Amino acid sequence: MPPKSPGVLRSVVTGVGGFLPDRIVTNDELSRIVDTSDEWIRERTGIRQRRQAADDTPVSDLAVEAARRALAAAGRTPQDVDLIVVATTTPDLTFPATATIVQRKLGCPVGIAFDVQAVCSGFVYALSVADGFVARDRSKCALVIGAETMTRLMDWTDRGTCVLFGDGAGAVVLEPGEGEGTTADRGLLGFALRADGTKQELLYVDGGVSTNRQTGYLRMQGNQVFRHAVVNISEAVTAAAADAGVAVPEVDWFIPHQANQRILEGVARRLGIDENKVISTVAEHANTSAASIPLALDEGVKDGRIRPGQLLLLEAMGGGLTWGACVLRL
Ligand code: UT7
Repeated sequence: MPPKSPGVLRSVVTGVGGFLPDRIVTNDELSRIVDTSDEWIRERTGIRQRRQAADDTPVSDLAVEAARRALAAAGRTPQDVDLIVVATTTPDLTFPATATIVQRKLGCPVGIAFDVQAVCSGFVYALSVADGFVARDRSKCALVIGAETMTRLMDWTDRGTCVLFGDGAGAVVLEPGEGEGTTADRGLLGFALRADGTKQELLYVDGGVSTNRQTGYLRMQGNQVFRHAVVNISEAVTAAAADAGVAVPEVDWFIPHQANQRILEGVARRLGIDENKVISTVAEHANTSAASIPLALDEGVKDGRIRPGQLLLLEAMGGGLTWGACVLRL
């Protein structure tokens, strides 16, 4: 008998959950605050509405609710969790990390908990970081959460940004699973992460602890970011697919960061991805930064489109600039 080849540990998504605050803000409502219109916002972005967290709701509350739902879907409890990675650019406090606040609120035992800050690319970065623990058997049950209250960073006099963002959270449970080392394995199969700090001025917040001690407001040269997005994302997707050993057209579902419907479609077209394979939530959620991918994943799982065993492609781009992509089999 030939010797059995040793298995490969993979980080497998065993549960997905999402949470959106109740309050819906329509385009018409924003048109009463700034010089804009429902028509402009829909045509240029695809956005119809966004959610806004109540003033007394910190981002950790959104994260906790999404995490509870992901744990329930995985058949796990907070007692099982030994690693929490929260991707957020709108933390409750400067410190401690929102991940430790989530740990306390969920009632998880002592473990590892920290935040990842890569703005809209945060979830893709956080998944890749968590993979370093789970696929090395350093974590048996990890929560990877994207959670944001982006509306807190809005300058409500700037029509170029305040109509684009919303609040929400999405989470996945990652557990180690033995695979054969092939693309048929369940789990994270490949990723590509990128950053270019020279493009800071295109998208940033003009406040910070060690500069002006302010929270600051989000500033963006939207059309410049747009220009970089399609080209950069496509390169990272191709690299992530190569890392995973799959061809982009093999992918069952494309789950992009939800910034603008025109970017989603532009990237899909450039990569030859069928538009019917694109999960889009931008119309209802707007841009929820690090939360947008897990929220879109949750929508697709909940409505039955995305099923276990399918090959998923995730990608994002955001402030930094940062960008990246992941390929995983659910
Ligand atoms: O998640 C992080 C990554 N972020 C992104 O991916 C965002 C990427 N960028 C975008 O999605 C688009 O660039 C925007 C939606 C932000 C803007 O669309 P655009 O087609 O690039 O418009 P623009 O910035 O070139 O502006 C065109 C016009 C300008 O007026 P003038 O100078 O031509 O008179 C803007 O002032 O549209 C005006 N404008 C608006 N008009 C009505 C900008 N925002 C608004 C608005 N309502 N809300």
